[in-house]
Amino acid sequence: MINSAAISLQNWEPVADRQLHVSVLTKQVIEGLNLRPGCLYVDGTVGMGGHAESIFEACPDIRMLICVDWDDDALALARRRVEQWKERFMLLKSNYANIPELLLSNGIEKVDGILLDIGLSSFQLEHSGRGFSFNSEEPLDMRMDRFGSVMASDLVNNLPVEALTELIRIYGEERWAKRIAERITEQREQSPIHTAGELARLISRAIPRKFHPRKIHPATRTFQALRIAVNRELDNLKHALDVLPDCLNPGGRLCIISFHSLEDRLVKFSFRDDPRLKALTKKPLTADEDEISINPRARSAKLRVAERTEES
Ligand SMILES: C[S@@+](CC[C@H](N)C(=O)[O-])C[C@H]1O[C@@H](n2cnc3c(N)ncnc32)[C@H](O)[C@@H]1O
Repeated sequence: MINSAAISLQNWEPVADRQLHVSVLTKQVIEGLNLRPGCLYVDGTVGMGGHAESIFEACPDIRMLICVDWDDDALALARRRVEQWKERFMLLKSNYANIPELLLSNGIEKVDGILLDIGLSSFQLEHSGRGFSFNSEEPLDMRMDRFGSVMASDLVNNLPVEALTELIRIYGEERWAKRIAERITEQREQSPIHTAGELARLISRAIPRKFHPRKIHPATRTFQALRIAVNRELDNLKHALDVLPDCLNPGGRLCIISFHSLEDRLVKFSFRDDPRLKALTKKPLTADEDEISINPRARSAKLRVAERTEES
């Protein structure tokens, strides 16, 4: 249930909530979920409640939308967004990988659709104060769940150089991983790295200028790697892919939006190979130019949809 830590958000104006995060691929999500009156759905990453609001607008007579997020601030914002349907939603603080246990503890065994829109919200990136953005002097935290045990600064200041190199290379797909890890370890011998800005500048210096990527900040890949490690993003997704099909009624839908290739690959192979699922999207659904022009973040979003097969 919502933790009172979210109260710091009480001064945000509801009208501004919509601008804190623009939902991606909304029309495709609504179609993918195949919403029907009287049925039960889960939004496992409710974030700013944008998709949740669209679900209620598209089908106000669903039985219940169970909204999950592990970020207290997100839950507080989502609550305000879907307030008018309060008879029909439940807000739960949890890792989406624990949805089966959450459902059971609320007396629910199966649902008719589950949405995961994984990754970071624009609110978390720009306003959470947790060092997700390289242009900030915020502490290098990067925990989406404030009660997580490891922060990005712990990894950056303590991992052996080899482990740091692997982390940046594998989770960030960064070709300059070794050089970046070496510069980090040199720097931390002088003094620990505390802020996102400090780390971003160090990474920019570590990559030769002529190899700086043209469209993204030079620190983008390393920041992605740290965020994935801090939040155990791939482990959570793998576990969810394992357990969520069993939470669906036959014909129930699993819709997953991912934002980078490491995640999309996991979803693609799981939907292809899991006998409990039938993939309904051979290729991922992506945003058209109109959506991208309004919301550039949508450019990397990929939605895959699968349907629960009949019980065997
Ligand atoms: C891209 S935002 C979702 C935005 C939302 N669909 C909307 O339209 O407003 C992703 C959300 O997923 C949450 N999240 C990421 N990983 C999670 C996990 N393992 N368990 C629960 N929530 C998670 C983040 O805290 C964030 O609020």
